[in-house]
Amino acid sequence: MYNLGIDLGGTFIKAGVVDSENKIRAKFMMESHVDTNVDGLCARMIECAKTAVDEAGLTMDEIEHIGVCVPGAVDSVNGVVVYCSNIKFRNTPLAAMIKERTGKPVFVHNDANAAAYGEVVAGAAQGCKDVIVVTLGTGVGGGVIIDGKIYAGFNSFGGELGHTVIVHNGEPCPCGRRGCLESYASATALIKQTRESMKNHTESRLWQICPDISQINGKTAFDAMREGSKAGAEVVNRYINYLGCGLTNFINVFQPEMLLIGGGISKEGETLLEPLRKILAVETYGSSMDAPKTRIGVCTLRNDAGTIGAANLYRLYEND
Ligand code: BGC
Repeated sequence: MYNLGIDLGGTFIKAGVVDSENKIRAKFMMESHVDTNVDGLCARMIECAKTAVDEAGLTMDEIEHIGVCVPGAVDSVNGVVVYCSNIKFRNTPLAAMIKERTGKPVFVHNDANAAAYGEVVAGAAQGCKDVIVVTLGTGVGGGVIIDGKIYAGFNSFGGELGHTVIVHNGEPCPCGRRGCLESYASATALIKQTRESMKNHTESRLWQICPDISQINGKTAFDAMREGSKAGAEVVNRYINYLGCGLTNFINVFQPEMLLIGGGISKEGETLLEPLRKILAVETYGSSMDAPKTRIGVCTLRNDAGTIGAANLYRLYEND
């Protein structure tokens, strides 16, 4: 049995053919071109998916289910994308549109929810029932798994951990609120923090790492820190403290068995995890008690977490 997972991002569409053991048999990626209208974007997603099926040496007849994940608010019961900040989906009946063009059952969820589910079925959180995944990319995504299933509230918009406030009246967030974790801990925020530091420290080694300020990325400050830059280390420390504040809140609310970090910044691995563990060991409720503690790690499916999670979404509806 094969299922298809499609992960729609602001920059790329990724599609993967996933087998019954959750191995990706083939995958394909193409630019999303988010300026395209809704029909055009849907057509690109299907083109990407069909190419992945071709590359797997299969035909669409051999695909049982299709799962799609998107960076926004999804009514997953009805397969409708209610809102996506960078993409022109507004109350878009995406499941029905893809079903009409492929004849397959289609399931749609938020990208971080799908990534969290992927980690539970095939990644670092296999065997865990209560898991939180926080993705650090263009935005900050949140996936809440309770009792092995995605928890997204009565209307399925829940689990938006990136849109919880860590600084009252703080930095503006694309969601319209101020001070959200996303405005401090996304890759976008880290780039902004690095840029500000470079402007304030014109002699800093940060400039050797990245002479062109428009080329700063989520690694720049980490790389500078590794090369002994004080300004780079300051940016990284501040960033990790903000993130630690958000993660402490999530542990205090959910006390999950495992909390995983995904997205581009998670590639920093232990450089990120070690100081985070130190913060959480002091800050989280119950940290001084002799009781089991949340394990902290990174998503091991990396870029495939969303695709594999999406390909498995059908399982959540099997007994409906
Ligand atoms: C969106 C979330 C999404 C996250 C990661 C945020 O800006 O609000 O819905 O999961 O980015 O893509």
